[in-house]
Amino acid sequence: MNIGIDKIGFYAPHYYVDMIKLAEARGIDPDKFTIGIGQDEMALAPVTQDAVTLAANAALQVIDEEDREKIDLVLFGTESGIDHSKSAAVYLHHLLGLNPYARAVELKQACYSATAGIQMAKGHIALNPESKVLVIGADIARYGLATPGESTQGAGAVAMVISKDPKLLALENESTYFTNDIMDFWRPLYSDIAYVDGKFSNEQYIHFFNTVWEKYKEQTGRSLEDFSALCFHVPYTKMGLKALRTILDEATESGSERLKANYETSIQYNRKVGNIYTGSLYLSLLSLLEKNDSLEGGERIGLYSYGSGAVGEFFTGILQPNYQDHLYVHQHEELFHARKEVSIEEYEEIFEETLSADGSSTEFDRTNDPAPVYLSGVEDHKRIYVNRIK
Ligand code: CAA
Repeated sequence: MNIGIDKIGFYAPHYYVDMIKLAEARGIDPDKFTIGIGQDEMALAPVTQDAVTLAANAALQVIDEEDREKIDLVLFGTESGIDHSKSAAVYLHHLLGLNPYARAVELKQACYSATAGIQMAKGHIALNPESKVLVIGADIARYGLATPGESTQGAGAVAMVISKDPKLLALENESTYFTNDIMDFWRPLYSDIAYVDGKFSNEQYIHFFNTVWEKYKEQTGRSLEDFSALCFHVPYTKMGLKALRTILDEATESGSERLKANYETSIQYNRKVGNIYTGSLYLSLLSLLEKNDSLEGGERIGLYSYGSGAVGEFFTGILQPNYQDHLYVHQHEELFHARKEVSIEEYEEIFEETLSADGSSTEFDRTNDPAPVYLSGVEDHKRIYVNRIK
């Protein structure tokens, strides 16, 4: 039985920052951001969008009545959780109107947890072939104003329906994974911005990639020639390229050209959104699927997932026949088209507007956020969500 990704939905908040203007405001050569880091625009979440609303807006794009009935497991990967106890998955389950006879749980391991969700979903479908699983990667990447990490922020969510006979990508069984306790990036409970050892995190990302890739080759006997494209976790688009370059000498000249070209295709959305942590790898996969004009059913895609702290995994999927007919290209074009650029002053103001730390009641101005699902306020220490299209 084939099990894999049947649908992918994506949502990014409607504000974005132009990276050239951000560089100029910080007194940095813009080429550093657009070439050195490889980012053109950065999605910015208003206070009315959090991990739950981003996820709901991504999922609403793709789920239909049959999914609502058949989804009996919701796995919500995030490192932007809104509560230490209640999972984001339960809020989401309600906002989407899913079948009540479902399990719902939040998963955490930095940017890796959506991948853990996908692998758990695969096991669940293997045992329950008629069910479907909703896997989410939703995050807001925050490092702080005028910090070295500022150019690698972003916000958004990817929602994936995992099922048997998937329409997009059938996951293969072989995968290699690796865990090591390191401090490259973390966010203590008291902080709303991440702490990061930037250079070390870059080194470890590549080290984990090389480790799982070597093990994968050993286990499967496959080589780079068996792959049409490799997708990477994309904290910023230059990062995946740096990792890819470490193995390109294993490919033929034409193979190397193919992988580099497909890498460029796979980062088009990420260049406009920035880091969305758990969803970044899947945003890159989505970009590859929606923006390429040569990949056909039957071709193999490799996926490298990395979550600081750290866990890395390399796994693979086979593109399904006519996968192109099951994408939401037009909706994603519209989403990007409808975004509004904010000035650096506006960005700083929006960035600083956070929920009060003591949980005091608040009501937000709902006219500023056109998203179908948004956070309307806080009352009695409870977040109040609104679904406009319900
Ligand atoms: N023109 C062109 N390129 C330029 C340039 C210019 N004028 N000035 C600098 N550059 C290049 C540099 O040469 C460098 O390129 P290489 O990496 O290829 O050498 C690149 O721009 C970045 O320059 P710096 O290394 O000087 O940048 P920095 O130290 O200010 O910060 C960073 C870079 C470490 C990535 C920082 O943004 C950061 O800490 N980000 C958050 C951490 C992160 O994203 N880590 C990634 C791995 S961890 C992970 O993947 C998990 C996760 O999601 C967080």
